[in-house]
Amino acid sequence: MERRKSSSRQGPRPKKRPKVDISKTALGAEPEKRGLKRAGPAAKSPADKRPPAKASVTPSGGGQRELAVNVKTARKRKLSSTLWLQRQLNDPFVARAKAEGYRSRAAYKLIELDEKFGLLKKGARVVDLGAAPGGWTQVAVKKGARVIGIDYLGVPPIPGAEILELDFLDETAPAKLKALLGGKADVVLSDMAAPTTGHKTTDHLRIIALAEAALDFAEDVLAPGGAFVSKVFQGGAEGELLSRLKQDFETVKHAKPKASRSDSAEMYVVAAGFRGRGK
Ligand SMILES: C[S@@+](CC[C@H](N)C(=O)[O-])C[C@H]1O[C@@H](n2cnc3c(N)ncnc32)[C@H](O)[C@@H]1O
Repeated sequence: MERRKSSSRQGPRPKKRPKVDISKTALGAEPEKRGLKRAGPAAKSPADKRPPAKASVTPSGGGQRELAVNVKTARKRKLSSTLWLQRQLNDPFVARAKAEGYRSRAAYKLIELDEKFGLLKKGARVVDLGAAPGGWTQVAVKKGARVIGIDYLGVPPIPGAEILELDFLDETAPAKLKALLGGKADVVLSDMAAPTTGHKTTDHLRIIALAEAALDFAEDVLAPGGAFVSKVFQGGAEGELLSRLKQDFETVKHAKPKASRSDSAEMYVVAAGFRGRGK
């Protein structure tokens, strides 16, 4: 998700390029020098003065730690890809997901939200919007829920779940999901995120549009007392989305799980106790 496709190389390829240690390039230097924003409170710490090879990162789990893996640049890899790789290799949630058999580090976001809000119950009917690669679905299935999911990316099968490979914004999607559900849902989860453009307003509008579409669907299928969870950005749910949530659910809370990267504006809105649309 967070990795951008590298664009094709412009102009002739240099004949030979010496191997470069990333720590000795601008990549290993302060992010500002690379035109990047610094993550979180680490920005002004004395750690900034350390030599690049020991540059500190802010792992998603919070706090600071030394880089365990320092990725060297490679001829065919763009700097942005090297950075992504370095972050993945040093991310404790990536390592944990691998060790515990989850398909994504995002799984730990739902685990934390569930611990906090008690969302997933045995036998519950759960809808997972934006399910790929399947971390949230795995978590819900493990808690004994029956999951219906959707993503325009393919999701390898997960026993206990049925996942549609389709754009949720396709006009046929709601009916297809409802047919698979075969009744009311107890929980509707949306971790949908469109690829970011880097333009703040556009990205914000896109995520709100997805959250509103998810809420439309949730209000159509949720059983009384049901819960809705959606990814939102920046200041959380606001405007019309927030007033609808407050009107139609007993409680509306925001949370930023530890697995949500500190340098990301992502957070989640959790609405519980569905009363009915417009009630
Ligand atoms: C952050 S990822 C979800 C990760 C997932 N919760 C997990 O634990 O593995 C966001 C997903 O939303 C999907 N998505 C974004 N817009 C969508 C849309 N309109 N319809 C279906 N899926 C969409 C993307 O394809 C992507 O797989």
